[in-house]
Amino acid sequence: MKSGRRPLVVGNWKMHGSRAENARLVEEMIGQYPPAPAALCVVCPPLVYLQDVARLLRGSAILLGAQTVCADAQGAFTGEVSAAMLKDVGCSYVIVGHSERRLLYRESDQAVARKFVAAQSKGLVPILCVGEQLAEREAERTFEVVARQLEAVLKLASMESLASAVLAYEPVWAIGTGRHASPEQAQDVHAFIRAQLAARDAKIAPLTRILYGGSVKAVNAAELFAMPDIDGGLIGGASLKADEFIAILSAARAH
Ligand code: PGA
Repeated sequence: MKSGRRPLVVGNWKMHGSRAENARLVEEMIGQYPPAPAALCVVCPPLVYLQDVARLLRGSAILLGAQTVCADAQGAFTGEVSAAMLKDVGCSYVIVGHSERRLLYRESDQAVARKFVAAQSKGLVPILCVGEQLAEREAERTFEVVARQLEAVLKLASMESLASAVLAYEPVWAIGTGRHASPEQAQDVHAFIRAQLAARDAKIAPLTRILYGGSVKAVNAAELFAMPDIDGGLIGGASLKADEFIAILSAARAH
């Protein structure tokens, strides 16, 4: 195991599925679940199916997460769902700051930071996504962008809170494109993120899980997960096929 960090594989179903399709997917996943995987496994269905999927997962080792959360605790926020509500229906994880939320729904670094804090305050593990767009990579601004996104969270949250949180490096140009970062490209950014954490607290930095996301498939998972600072994956498209997702889960080894 990498410095005691048990790998984690998270399926982000995005806006896919139906009650019937989810039931089939979960049944297949449970049927193929390896006896003692090295990695923890989480699935994040659309909000409206959380309770249903929680019931389907009961008795299995697969944990439940949500794809987003409201930064506020309760009140007049039409359409929003709070961290306490997610906890109430059985979630233990929540993705915050996914690039689709940042870009399509204009979530700012500050809004993402508030969501991170709201999630942790109710006992959810936030999975904080960071990552650069293609133009930013081409302009060699990857580290600057990732540092800015991380910094916004560290302004509101303590370094201690990072020990139990999860980070996910997701280069936007690799999401849903079939073009994943090379293991070396990903490792460079993961090592940068860990160094940013270590500069603040050298004891906490080795504890934080940093996942890679962006076109992870069964064929490329093992080489990505073998890198020293990659502690598992955030999986989109490939999490919708049970055999593919379970193969990715099995590729995560305790190093
Ligand atoms: P992808 O999505 O695996 O389909 O590239 C990853 C994500 O958006 O989390």
